[in-house]
Amino acid sequence: MLKYLKKYWLFFILAPIFMVGEVSMDLLQPRLMGQIVDEGVLGLSHGGVGDLGLVINTGLRMIGLVLFGCFCGIMSGVFANLCSQNYGNDIRKDAFRRVMSFSFEQTDRFSTGSLITRVTNDITQVQNLVTQCIRGFVRTFLLFAGGIVCMLTLDLSFGVVVACALPLIVACVIFFIAKANPMFTVLQEKLDKVNNVMQENVAGARVVKAYVKEEYEKGRFGAANGELVGTQLDVLLLFSYMTPIMNIILNVSVVAVIKVGAIEVGNGGVTPGDVMAAITYISQILNAVMRMTMIFQTVSRGVASGKRIKEVLDCEPSIKGGSFAGDTAVKGKVEFRNVSFSYPNMGEKKVISDFSLTINPGETFGILGATGCGKSSLVNLIPRFYDATQGEVLVDDVNVKDYTLGALRGKIAVALQKSEISARRYVRISRGESLTLQRQR
Ligand SMILES: Nc1ncnc2c1ncn2[C@@H]1O[C@H](COP(=O)(O)OP(=O)(O)O)[C@@H](O)[C@H]1O
Ligand SMILES: [Mg+2]
Repeated sequence: MLKYLKKYWLFFILAPIFMVGEVSMDLLQPRLMGQIVDEGVLGLSHGGVGDLGLVINTGLRMIGLVLFGCFCGIMSGVFANLCSQNYGNDIRKDAFRRVMSFSFEQTDRFSTGSLITRVTNDITQVQNLVTQCIRGFVRTFLLFAGGIVCMLTLDLSFGVVVACALPLIVACVIFFIAKANPMFTVLQEKLDKVNNVMQENVAGARVVKAYVKEEYEKGRFGAANGELVGTQLDVLLLFSYMTPIMNIILNVSVVAVIKVGAIEVGNGGVTPGDVMAAITYISQILNAVMRMTMIFQTVSRGVASGKRIKEVLDCEPSIKGGSFAGDTAVKGKVEFRNVSFSYPNMGEKKVISDFSLTINPGETFGILGATGCGKSSLVNLIPRFYDATQGEVLVDDVNVKDYTLGALRGKIAVALQKSEISARRYVRISRGESLTLQRQR
């Protein structure tokens, strides 16, 4: 799905570039703060006489840098969002087009609820993934690497603290990521289930009400929703352990920096301002590692969702039209020649077996039979909602498979008893049989 990013390459590049600006400002601040402490307040190089002018000057510079950092941050956010939103929008349009081309069998196989989740929620997850990659990840990585460099240039002895704290915190991050990763696929599946029950109940509200199954359906929805909440809570619980553990490591590291700093100040190796700056740097470094967990969370959710969207995009429509565009004159002849049909999930069992019938132009034909005997299935073969498993269906003496789908379906009018939302725009609803074939005039 990377090809969808191509169109927005400029935004994709500008977002991280502005992020470099924002992070650089963040990394400069502790240095300037250190200068204010050492020279402005303590006056280390002027025999202990502070310098108010330097405090004001450096303070103003810091404000200027903050404003510039803000500007870069805003621009980075704007470009990242332009990139990810447009990217998602393009994928959503393509996925929708693909879903529209699916045969009923394919829609059944994915399930309507899952298709809705894929085209909505899954695409949002992929958009978040893109934003995190060009913004979150760049920011975190620069703060991490830049923080280490800045800290070590203050004094190499601070490296001891980094060397001790890093493996600990990285081990924690790896542990939590490994635990959380599989949960995200499950989370999307649970969401599918909730959407499925919801979709079935909205679309099949009449049936549910007719059989007074509201309580049963409420129970079913409750169960699906309960499972979703359960999985979500598992994920959140895991992350709620994580934050305090990471905070302990962070706080111990700050204490360690103060301790090392105190020793070094005593030896004359560093100044109090350097220690202050080092405290900020170690927080920035460890916070960056902690944020990595969140980024990995978004990345793994995005990757799981990306796979689900790709399944839709890669699924070739199983019913494709032929090349015959059809004649303009509609005669109205329908013929079934030794037709057999079974639904894909039925195995050997046939709904229609070796059925032949010719309906001549001008004839009105009624099909009677018990519920479930296959009337709708038979009629569905004419506009190729499903394809016959054996035999041929002909409309105006041409096999339905030879027509382009548009030409074939253009010859046929379907009046459904139940008015579907958009069907109202296409056909005048007439009461009567559940499916009535009409000749188009
Ligand atoms: N999409 C489907 N997938 C699997 N089985 C189906 C599907 N639609 C209908 N059936 C089954 O095929 C049989 C015929 O159904 P249908 O053609 O709808 O009957 P009728 O319209 O005569 O009431 C029934 O047993 C029904 O359960
Ligand atoms: Mg029927």
